[in-house]
Amino acid sequence: MTQSGKIAVVTGAAGAIGKSIVSALVSSGAHVVMMDLDAAKLEQLSAKYGDAVSGVQVDLANTDQLLGAMASILEKFNRVDILVNNAGILSNNKMAETTLEEWRKVHAINLDAAFLLSKAVLPGMAVVKWGRIVNVASYAAKSGGLTAGTAYSVSKSGMIGLTFSTARETTAKGITVNAIAPAYVMSPMVSEQLTDAQRAKQLSEIPVGRFCEPEEVAHAVTFLASPLAGFITGEVIDMNGGLYFD
Ligand SMILES: NC(=O)c1ccc[n+]([C@@H]2O[C@H](COP(=O)([O-])OP(=O)(O)OC[C@H]3O[C@@H](n4cnc5c(N)ncnc54)[C@H](O)[C@@H]3O)[C@@H](O)[C@H]2O)c1
Repeated sequence: MTQSGKIAVVTGAAGAIGKSIVSALVSSGAHVVMMDLDAAKLEQLSAKYGDAVSGVQVDLANTDQLLGAMASILEKFNRVDILVNNAGILSNNKMAETTLEEWRKVHAINLDAAFLLSKAVLPGMAVVKWGRIVNVASYAAKSGGLTAGTAYSVSKSGMIGLTFSTARETTAKGITVNAIAPAYVMSPMVSEQLTDAQRAKQLSEIPVGRFCEPEEVAHAVTFLASPLAGFITGEVIDMNGGLYFD
């Protein structure tokens, strides 16, 4: 079903998964506002998709920048129909090695930004009685982090809590709020932030026998963002290749 005329905001749009989400939402007909720290990659995506996208360079760890960027988006487009809170940074440090500074940085980008952006778009969604929020969590929230560290795993548990809490509050307003919990998606988080030994071990333990592809995550995101997913809210879609069922 077409999303023509819909305004979608995707954070971390220039990353491995973000790029696939942008591509899928553009294909569905939405105009996609891409938020990311990486201006050069945003420019490349703008050149590729032309008028179907807008790029907004922003540091999501900076609250003033984030709120200013979202205020400009709302002023320009009048509303946001679809928000995909996808931006995230990985830290593999376990408790003893995690500093408070690192904890706060990971939470600022992975969780606080999703809270602030959701808070900013929900009133407009409530007015038109239609909205979709999709939060990109992680299997680390459920596993405690096989290779992922303490701050990252806890921030992703927070994303699931934020999903439940926001969904509970918005069910009667035509808004759905759901999450995706992927594990080991082919991206720099897997190709660069795992050691060869960690990568080989995790691959050998995934029953499906391979890592997840970014396009598969994007497919789940666009499904949850679609009009026909309107009866699904407060759901967390696991994408872990059979590592874990619940
Ligand atoms: N790759 C995986 O295996 C995996 C597994 C589970 C969940 N996830 C989650 O999926 C999401 C996307 O991950 P990815 O693999 O595409 O990572 P990625 O590193 O390829 O992309 C992340 C994007 O976020 C942007 N970003 C980082 N800090 C930012 C900031 N302060 N302000 C604005 N933008 C910022 C980066 O510039 C980058 O474009 C993340 O939330 C991640 O935690 C990834």
